[in-house]
Amino acid sequence: MSEEFYAFLPRLNATLNASSAALLMTGLIAIKSRRVGLHKMCMLTAFGLSILFLVSYLVYHAHHGTTRFPGQGWVRPVYFTMLWTHMACAASLVPLCIVTLRRAFRKDFEAHRRIAKWTLPIWLYVSVTGVLVYVFLYIWFPT
Ligand code: HEM
Repeated sequence: MSEEFYAFLPRLNATLNASSAALLMTGLIAIKSRRVGLHKMCMLTAFGLSILFLVSYLVYHAHHGTTRFPGQGWVRPVYFTMLWTHMACAASLVPLCIVTLRRAFRKDFEAHRRIAKWTLPIWLYVSVTGVLVYVFLYIWFPT
């Protein structure tokens, strides 16, 4: 693959995260107004985009290694707190999403709803902080 391809991946990843966040919000608004079909479509598309993000993230980091954060002073603890909470929440999302989806497909919607109340805000946090990590690394503090 060319260098331009790898240079483009962080922007693609940020776009996938931003799209997931928008779909999660739309899916939430949909289910609040009892539009189950739209809710299902938004959540499954957000899930698909998150898997695409994971693949693209792994391809990028396998090639590029970790990206150093050059910011100094008060912004460093802010960035690293955001990065570590983002990563811990992202890891917890794997089982959370699987269980949330399994309960929906088994039509156990009461149990689906109970776990989804955790899955949705954690997923939103991961998507939004994913975009912020990109903004910190490539826009505010480019190396
Ligand atoms: C991982 C993906 C999903 C997430 C994060 C998610 C999230 C949620 C949330 C947060 C609620 C509760 C809304 C509220 O009342 O405040 C909910 C309810 C619901 N979801 Fe999902 N959902 C997902 C996938 C699906 C799928 C694939 C279906 C398939 C039909 C579905 C069907 C429903 C239904 C029917 C309800 C209403 C349950 C009730 O009111 O008892 N969801 N979902």
